[in-house]
Amino acid sequence: MKQFGHFDDARKEYVIQSPRTPYPWINYLGTQAFFSLISNTAGGYSFYKDARLRRITRYRYNNVPIDMGGRYFYISDNGTIWNPGWSPVKTELDAYECRHGMGYTVITGKKNGLKAEVTFFVPQNYDGEVQQVVLTNESSDTKTFKFFSFAEWCLWDAQDDCTNFQRNFSTGRVEVEGSTIYHKTEYRDRRDHYAFYTVNDSIDGYDTDRDSFIGLYNGFGDPQAVLDGKATNSFADGWSPIASHYKEITLAAGESKTLVFILGYVEMPADKKFEADGVTINKEKAYKMIEQYNTPEKVAAGLAELKAAWDKLLGIFNVNTSDDKVNRMVNIWNQYQCMVTFNLSRSASYFESGIGRGMGFRDSNQDILGFVHQIPDRARERLIDLASTQLEDGGCYHQYQPLTKKGNSDIGGDFSDDPLWMILSVGAYIKESGDWSILDQPVPYDNDESKAKPMLDHLTVSFYHIVNNLGPHGLPLAMRADWNDCLNLSCYSDKPGESFQTYTNPKFAAEGGYSKVAESVMVAALFTYAGPTYVGILKHLGKDDEAAKAQAEIDKMKENVMQSAFDGEWFLRAYDSTGAKVGSKECEEGKIFIEPQGFAVMSEIGKDQGADIKTLDSIDKYLNTKYGLVLNNPAFSKYYIQYGEISTYPGGYKENAGIFTHNNAWIICAEAYAGRGDKAFEYYSKIAPAFNEEISDLHKTEPYVYGQMIAGKDASRFGEGKNSWLTGTAAWNFVAISQYILGISADFDGLKVDPSIPKAWDGFTATRKFRGATYQITVKNPDHVSKGVKSLTVDGKAVEGNVVPVLPAGGTYEVVAVLG
Ligand code: GLC
Ligand code: GLC
Repeated sequence: MKQFGHFDDARKEYVIQSPRTPYPWINYLGTQAFFSLISNTAGGYSFYKDARLRRITRYRYNNVPIDMGGRYFYISDNGTIWNPGWSPVKTELDAYECRHGMGYTVITGKKNGLKAEVTFFVPQNYDGEVQQVVLTNESSDTKTFKFFSFAEWCLWDAQDDCTNFQRNFSTGRVEVEGSTIYHKTEYRDRRDHYAFYTVNDSIDGYDTDRDSFIGLYNGFGDPQAVLDGKATNSFADGWSPIASHYKEITLAAGESKTLVFILGYVEMPADKKFEADGVTINKEKAYKMIEQYNTPEKVAAGLAELKAAWDKLLGIFNVNTSDDKVNRMVNIWNQYQCMVTFNLSRSASYFESGIGRGMGFRDSNQDILGFVHQIPDRARERLIDLASTQLEDGGCYHQYQPLTKKGNSDIGGDFSDDPLWMILSVGAYIKESGDWSILDQPVPYDNDESKAKPMLDHLTVSFYHIVNNLGPHGLPLAMRADWNDCLNLSCYSDKPGESFQTYTNPKFAAEGGYSKVAESVMVAALFTYAGPTYVGILKHLGKDDEAAKAQAEIDKMKENVMQSAFDGEWFLRAYDSTGAKVGSKECEEGKIFIEPQGFAVMSEIGKDQGADIKTLDSIDKYLNTKYGLVLNNPAFSKYYIQYGEISTYPGGYKENAGIFTHNNAWIICAEAYAGRGDKAFEYYSKIAPAFNEEISDLHKTEPYVYGQMIAGKDASRFGEGKNSWLTGTAAWNFVAISQYILGISADFDGLKVDPSIPKAWDGFTATRKFRGATYQITVKNPDHVSKGVKSLTVDGKAVEGNVVPVLPAGGTYEVVAVLG
């Protein structure tokens, strides 16, 4: 077993010491509008706001070798050609290091006495990537070498760019002025934006045409211009425009030289697009952008500003436990990943091409649970965007495009769980911020302003969308899918190309597209888990009748679940469209599923009959493995047409008995809720990436962020991770560790402190900023229990219960909770 780097917690960095990681290990730059993905060998790409429609640089997914396309610097030093990030030339370096930090990456390579340190970041409020290259001659002789930069432009629409060659090969256009290369493809016609790549120094040449620079039969690893030792000053006219600067550099022994490159994006109003000649592009804005970061001093200030912004964000919630891995996950990486999922949703990663999905309704609502404490204002905006795509009956478009903010009608609605996540996310927002005014805010339905109703109305229709769509057992209809996109009880697809989620089988056409018999126990449990948040909101507003009415629906649902969906030792998963049980001991395969269990336990369904503990024990018995909890067991070994996509995966992968880390969190929460802190922590530490650092060669994906899935016990690659970064796991595991295990959560009327920790822990301390005040929390565990707050004091004064009341903003308060 092997690791490829280490955490540097003081600097909030992961330090990669070998370029040959088991998969590209990436980072994200940018938090507002301009984003870049960057791997540990400087692969990746940039885009503005929308990874599909405003792709700035080109990337080749699923390439051989992997990770092709990036911002590459080539050095040709006395016959040796190398890149600071090793790839794509792959000359063995004398030293290599990549430090991924909060919104920046520093890659350093050394070869034959020359050191190149490259810092990449997107400054705050800036639409560009800054790349600072520091070249140092560490040898004792003067060195003269050749230096080339390289970026390949994407022709804006990433989908079109990789398919529509008959047109695209004739559209590329550039302009070169001094040391700046402009990508102005389609700017003359229908676009009001261009991009540029510049360096803050004179250059000895450039290339803007890919085939001239690389050579038609060469690759990124052996570009012809670099082999020849000089740029060709090529001018792209169609084909594939690129931007490459060329400079010859001489450094005396010990001397350093710093070059600052900027890859920028500019939008122009229609009437200001051109100079007076009507042809030359108006570069005013580009000049201003270049001016902002054209010296190392300005770069240092920009980087310091970025780091300060992250320190501030990460300073809102901080813990100090006896376990370094917990501390680094909670204080640094898990919170960082939550922000990345907020920004990117599921659009662009090394597993999401950025051209497929827009923003998911359920995904984005769940993401809010992970970052709302960091940026409540932006959570509010996001909630309003999301709610604006809701339909009047409470149903929701499953996805929307971030540029247009309109619901995506190709995918449509009818995902049975969608509305419920919004109750949780709006609830989380109010609990964090105390901003009840959001409920009065008029929010359109279906993006139609004339249909605007207060946000509270959106919650009401969300809640009743479940109540109004029940099946034969009084359980929610499963519709096209619930949280599990791959459990498709209405699809019955037997032909390739039919989407498991959106295809309407003629069998169900008359019923409105999906079975009115298939029911989801998972949605039932989610309803009883999320419902009380809605009730709490109504009570707070003094709407007691409505609260009582809603509570009655929740109670009825719990009864229905106990009556028809408790299988003796655990909860059923669903009823299929024939009324047969799914996830039952009666089933041949897929006897038990993970998804409904945690929510059912936390809703205390059947608790008086011991259903909670029986269920948790069954999970331990049937789903627990060395690397986490599998989604279902036994795995499906054949195609069940009545279940759909889930049974198309080989056993152990994805939704078919993979370790779906997202729903592991629900069990962690449930174990903590039930007071079994040791179990909760066992499950947490199995999947939290920092705990898997030592088995990185098996785990494969980044040891600093969660992936969606780890291969389950039925898979031949048991323990191998996939689909890192953009997953609801980030938010839910942050909820699990911070709110359930460490037990610190925002509530409507204060800050709740109710830990459920491993018995061996003596306690821990935490700092939590909440509604403008700072709470210094000490949890003591003298009796070595898991759960139960015996006493709670604030500044030495006893407080009843386990909720610290909201205290005046600006102050710092000492909170001591003693367990026992
Ligand atoms: C993916 C989707 C998420 C879904 C899950 C289970 O992670 O992004 O929406 O709930 O798969 O199918
Ligand atoms: C596929 C995936 C699933 C994902 C869905 C999103 O079905 O298996 O995980 O949620 O696509 O559309």
